[in-house]
Amino acid sequence: MSDGAREVACPLTVRHEPVLLEEILAALQIRAAGIYVDCTLGGGGHAEKILQQLSSDGLLIGFDQDAEAIVRVSRRLAPFGSRAKIVQGNFRHVAALLKGAGADRVDGILMDLGLSRYQLEGDAGGFSFQSEALLDMRMNRDASIPTAGDLINGGDPKTLRKILVEYGEEKRWRSIVRAVVKAREQAPIRTARQLADLVVRALPGARRYRIHPATRTFQALRIAVNDELNALREGLQGAFHRLNPGGRLCVISFHSLEDRIVKQYFQTLEKGCVCPPAMPVCGCGKTPSLRRVHRRPIVPSPAEVQRNPAARSARLRTGEKLSE
Ligand SMILES: C[S@@+](CC[C@H](N)C(=O)[O-])C[C@H]1O[C@@H](n2cnc3c(N)ncnc32)[C@H](O)[C@@H]1O
Repeated sequence: MSDGAREVACPLTVRHEPVLLEEILAALQIRAAGIYVDCTLGGGGHAEKILQQLSSDGLLIGFDQDAEAIVRVSRRLAPFGSRAKIVQGNFRHVAALLKGAGADRVDGILMDLGLSRYQLEGDAGGFSFQSEALLDMRMNRDASIPTAGDLINGGDPKTLRKILVEYGEEKRWRSIVRAVVKAREQAPIRTARQLADLVVRALPGARRYRIHPATRTFQALRIAVNDELNALREGLQGAFHRLNPGGRLCVISFHSLEDRIVKQYFQTLEKGCVCPPAMPVCGCGKTPSLRRVHRRPIVPSPAEVQRNPAARSARLRTGEKLSE
């Protein structure tokens, strides 16, 4: 299987346990009385393990944009009482969310990107190919944003092309856009399954693919609907600024678009002077503000992948804040 194919296969695979758990706990270097943030609570697996390492003086603040996740995780973390503060919100507003939770600076932050197994298993959001649910794909279903159905049935061909190419890296976008435009002239494409079947029919030979032929289309739509890449960019910046020096930012991503954003952000912070090489003396005064804890991303061990195949595309990057 090509690397690209492997990368996009994962977000639609159900994840049954927290990914890279031991690696995350080690990377965060948890202090029992510290303040830690889980920006993507999901089922609460990582959050629960972090809380188990905190003393009564420690605090975990957790976010998720999905209201159902908040209800579920609140039940799971209830035994930790006031040591767990749970807030519904998008991590792109991490600074404001932390302020609302009464925290100015924190000691470690986790982002475990993508969908949780609950979002896929129940699949009321139309995230997976077999789903008879309406094409929605909003992670926060209270948000007034266009759904996947709105984009598929209302987006002009140029917009559809942009989504498929930029967010799905889909080389066969022409056939897919043509098929979508033709189909919706007859009747709206309503369910996730209808779209998946249409993509299969639009791509000759698709049935021989090792991943579902609609994988890239679904990934692209989900990213577009939730504006995931911009949310990540903003979330990284907000998170970094709220870290105490010595604090660590851990990000688990599942496809190359996300991983590239994390890598480039860390590299920018890691750099010192950014003056043009021709400048005889530094005028920018910029010094490195982050250290990459490991040069290459950490990936799951073969044993973890065997236990939990959905972990196979995970990549963990960790940055340690050096200074403001
Ligand atoms: C992969 S799951 C996290 C799993 C979790 N670490 C666990 O151990 O169960 C990702 C979660 O992040 C949430 N999410 C994704 N993007 C988000 C964002 N921009 N802001 C807040 N939550 C987000 C999703 O709703 C989902 O519940």
